[in-house]
Amino acid sequence: MMEPDPASDLGAASGADAGGNADGVDLMGGELELRGRITTASNATFLGSIGAVAVVYKPVRGERPLWDFPDGTLAGREAAAYLVSEAFGWDIVPRTWLREGPLGIGMVQLWQEIDPEQDPVDLVLVDEVPEAGWRQVLEGSDEEDRTVALIHEDSAALRRMAVFDVVVNNADRKGAHVLAMPGGHRHGVDHGLTFHVEHKLRTVLWGWLGEELTAEELAGVERVSARLAGDLGAALADLITDGEIAALAARCDRLRSRRRFPAPSGGMPAVPWPLF
Ligand SMILES: Nc1ncnc2c1ncn2[C@@H]1O[C@H](COP(=O)(O)OP(=O)(O)O)[C@@H](O)[C@H]1O
Ligand SMILES: [Mg+2]
Repeated sequence: MMEPDPASDLGAASGADAGGNADGVDLMGGELELRGRITTASNATFLGSIGAVAVVYKPVRGERPLWDFPDGTLAGREAAAYLVSEAFGWDIVPRTWLREGPLGIGMVQLWQEIDPEQDPVDLVLVDEVPEAGWRQVLEGSDEEDRTVALIHEDSAALRRMAVFDVVVNNADRKGAHVLAMPGGHRHGVDHGLTFHVEHKLRTVLWGWLGEELTAEELAGVERVSARLAGDLGAALADLITDGEIAALAARCDRLRSRRRFPAPSGGMPAVPWPLF
C-alpha cells in the first residue's frame, strides 16, 4: 500500500502508518460515531468521529442515483482517488478508506480544519480581479446584472490539483471541493465522480489551459503511470473496473506526451454547476 508523505500533515496525522492508525486510534475497527449531517451536501454526507479523530462518512446507501455513473460506486471512486493522490505524492486527497459504519459500508475521510479566511477559488466583480497571483476562468452576470469573474489562485498547490483532476477525470471540481489549509496547502475533496471511461472533466481550475506542465508535475504523472503497472493497479482493481483503470493509464500517457494542460473538449459543460 501507499506510504503517506512523512512531511505532510496527513503523514503526521496518521503516524505515517498506512495500515490504519491515527493518534493511536484504530481507523478501520474503532467505533465510528455520527456527529452531524453536512447539510450542503447533495448525497448523505456525515461528520463523524472515531475516538478523537474527526472524519467525513458517506455511506454507499446514501448515494443519490446518477444517470452517468453506476449506482453504489461513488465511495469506491473516492477511495481510488485517494490511492492515485498518494501515488502522485502531493497529499491532495485527505486519507480516505472504505469501512463499516452506523449506516453500513461507506467511505471515510479524515476531516481537515480549513482556514476560513482564504478563498483559493472565488467569484469577484470583474474590476476587482487582482492584478497578479490569480487566474481568471470565465465571466458572467450576477443577479444584479453586474459582470463577475470566476478566479482561482495561481499556486503550485492548485496547479497540482488541476493535474490530478485531468488524470482522475474529475467531473465535479467545484470551488467548495478545494480546501484551503492554513499555511497554503490545498486539499481536494469529493471525488465520487471520477474515473469514468469517457471524458468528463468538469472543473473550475481551467486557469492554466494550454500551458506547459512543469518537470515536477510531469514527474508526478510518471509516478502514477509506473505504479499503475504494479501495486497501485492491483489496489485499484478492488475499487474501479479494468476498463476504468485502462482509461486512467491512457490519460496519463496522453498527458505525458502532450505535456500541457488540456483545453475543454466534447459536448459536456466544462465547469460544474453550481460552481461552488
Ligand atoms: N475531509 C474534509 N475535511 C473538511 N471539510 C470537508 C471534507 N470533506 C468535505 N468537506 C466539506 O464538506 C462539504 C461537503 O462534502 P462533499 O464531499 O462535497 O459531499 P457531497 O458528496 O455530499 O457533495 C465540502 O464542500 C467541504 O466544504
Ligand atoms: Mg460536494
